[in-house]
Amino acid sequence: MDKFVIDGGRRLFGGLRAQSAKNSVLPLLAASILTEERVTIFDVPMISDVACMAQILRELGAEVSFQGGNAFIDSADATEHRIPSALTKELRSSVFMLGALLSRFRRAACAYPGGCDIGLRPIDLHLNALKRMDAHIEERDGYILCACDRLKGADIVLDFPSVGATENILLAAALAEGRTVIEGAAKEPEIVDLQNFLNAMGAKICGAGTDTVEIEGVKKLHGVEYHPVKDRIEAGTYLIACAVCGGELEIEGVRPDCLGLLLHKLRENGCKIHTKNDKIKLTSSGRLKCNRKIETMPFPGFPTDLQAQMTALNASGEGCALIVENLFETRYKYVPELKRMGADIEVDGRNAFVRGVPRLHGATVSCGDLRGGAALVIAALGAEGVSDVLDLAHLDRGYCDLCANLKKLGAKIKRVRV
Ligand code: UD1
Repeated sequence: MDKFVIDGGRRLFGGLRAQSAKNSVLPLLAASILTEERVTIFDVPMISDVACMAQILRELGAEVSFQGGNAFIDSADATEHRIPSALTKELRSSVFMLGALLSRFRRAACAYPGGCDIGLRPIDLHLNALKRMDAHIEERDGYILCACDRLKGADIVLDFPSVGATENILLAAALAEGRTVIEGAAKEPEIVDLQNFLNAMGAKICGAGTDTVEIEGVKKLHGVEYHPVKDRIEAGTYLIACAVCGGELEIEGVRPDCLGLLLHKLRENGCKIHTKNDKIKLTSSGRLKCNRKIETMPFPGFPTDLQAQMTALNASGEGCALIVENLFETRYKYVPELKRMGADIEVDGRNAFVRGVPRLHGATVSCGDLRGGAALVIAALGAEGVSDVLDLAHLDRGYCDLCANLKKLGAKIKRVRV
């Protein structure tokens, strides 16, 4: 078990290139099972969620290797349709593999993902969509068992623009018989990336990035070499860290329109932001005003995956902020930890009311989830004194080289064994 020791109060200066998006690479790895030919995904971040997805593919019988930061997947010999329950529990988003497995093997099984540390993650939208496509689904002894002849195209209306359900349907429909239309689809950039990846394999999909996605099923998909979209959430996390610490940071690789609302909020805080093509440059004095309100919404709304980091920013801003979390039920588990550092935050259901204090102070805090952990690191970087940030396994799920990158920017941070 490792911890970060962070001596706060250093300004951050420099440039970083964003890693490939975790939330894109995971569905792309799942999609690689749809062809028997070799798939190459470039610039894959070495994070534990990727390692876990690679392990799932291996359990299915695929060969997966990583070389020079790229992933090579060959699933010609894959025969297994069950995702082992230990791995489903480790990577809850593995449920979006059901569509791909059904498509490839006509059968799929995985353990029910169950509760999770950011609230219940129901999968009714996933299962109803697969049923509409003629899959037979049973839930038995904590397992979801799916079977079909060939999946059939269908008109599917999503009550809520679920990212995972939209991806599941794309994966199921790419090789289904006939045409599938999703109304109320999620519009995240990672959905567009999955469409582009599948189309590069020979699929016929259009409309991703809008409410309506149309998929004309094809008979076969072929191998592909692909560069995934960069990680807007990782980029946003570093921008917020620099805003809090003060300094100047240029992030390369993420299109500014993928972070539109974050950049708007950071300007409200008093940061200067310049954008050009896929570069975002932020300059901050470190003395920030609170945002009046931040409310998380599906894309292009404010991302729930940056909510915790912005709460950390507001905790030492001037004034008060209301944070409203609309996507997940209990995504404020990091708040008691921020309070140990002197933050003044009251949580009431989906709302967190933040009264900014002049400066947070160092403390020993524990990460309870990935983005909550990122918020604690940001708070520690801006705080006065030394903080120990424990339980880094959560951060390792999503951030590659976090410590090295922050050090490179001038932070006083080290990773030590406990
Ligand atoms: C994905 C992202 C995650 C991000 C989230 C929202 C990945 C691997 N993860 O998660 O980082 O925080 O999008 O942007 O891409 N819901 C249902 N029924 C369903 C499915 C979802 O009620 O069948 C609800 C969920 O409980 C939640 C909301 O819809 O309240 C959003 O979930 P969803 O968009 O599906 O998120 P994930 O795909 O799990």
